[in-house]
Amino acid sequence: MIERLEKLRSDTLELLSQLRDARALADARTRVLGRKGELTAILRGLKDLSPEDRADVGRVANLVKAELEKKFDQAEQALRDAQEQKRLSVEFVDVTLPGRRFIPGRSHILRRVTDEIINIFAGLGFQLAEGPEVELDYYNFEALNIPRDHPARDMQDTFYFSENVVLRTHTSPVQIRTMEKQQPPVRVICPGKVYRRDADMTHSPMFMQVEGLWVDEGIAFSDLKGILVAFVHEYFGQGVELRFRPSFFPFTEPSAEVDIQCVICGGKGCRTCSFSGWLEILGSGMVDPELYRFVNYDPEKYSGFAFGLGIERVAMLKCGVPDIRTFYENDLRFLNQF
Ligand code: FA5
Repeated sequence: MIERLEKLRSDTLELLSQLRDARALADARTRVLGRKGELTAILRGLKDLSPEDRADVGRVANLVKAELEKKFDQAEQALRDAQEQKRLSVEFVDVTLPGRRFIPGRSHILRRVTDEIINIFAGLGFQLAEGPEVELDYYNFEALNIPRDHPARDMQDTFYFSENVVLRTHTSPVQIRTMEKQQPPVRVICPGKVYRRDADMTHSPMFMQVEGLWVDEGIAFSDLKGILVAFVHEYFGQGVELRFRPSFFPFTEPSAEVDIQCVICGGKGCRTCSFSGWLEILGSGMVDPELYRFVNYDPEKYSGFAFGLGIERVAMLKCGVPDIRTFYENDLRFLNQF
């Protein structure tokens, strides 16, 4: 028995001096020391020996076991060291190189301007409402008092998916959608993308508007003026002038367009304001009582105002950007300025 142990020891040590492969090493360990290994088998056989032999053989077997376990551990470690050494000799890490800089992303300037506008109106008690960009002709035109063949449609040409489905040309359809859902008081702000056949320095074929609508008992034009002046002074500063110009929209009566002093040239006149010193930022007016017919509101009881603000125009003035198209060119040299 002791001879068997000696032979197993010397054979295993011989084998260990030759093995250079982790897989083979692991197999050899299992073969010798594993649950069904040779040494384990010898240890199991101890119970069949006489008590004296059992003590002697047991002592030697335990010594051999401890030694072989240690040798296997050392051989495995040596193999790992050799592999690591090899890796380091191939891969060269230059720790003096500068680190890779992480450039954090951020929202587009138009997103931020939209959020700022919404925040101001939220502070004035307006709630957020939204509507679809692909809109029914009914909401975009018909229910806003713009029947088929009305000349007002010419100013807002758009993409027609079918006779009754269009890319919305303004955020005003959200007025109807909101009033359909609830009775007054209604005080909402509705931001979103809109589309038109338009393209020059101050007109983009896709642009954004924020619609505002306030309907309740006793709302007057002076409320509209008060809200818009409060907004412009809060956003552009107390000194900025604004003017209300009489205008026409089929869904408001009376109607007004609001210009603010061109902050790019300080009102002196430049290419952006077409040398007028003013830039139009929104259309507005008192909700035409005709609309209340479409949403079952009592025109004798309620009155209200609405406005539609061009977000790019506001951003142009706020950031001093002379050409609207630059917002959509995705040139990071331009966008990183803000
Ligand atoms: C309208 O779109 C009306 N729905 C506004 C309105 C709402 C009136 C509620 C009354 C009551 P208008 O076409 O003027 O109106 O556009 C409103 C604003 O959108 C303009 O003042 C301008 O700031 C902006 N705008 C219009 N067309 C473009 C365009 N192509 N590119 C960028 N901004 C535009």
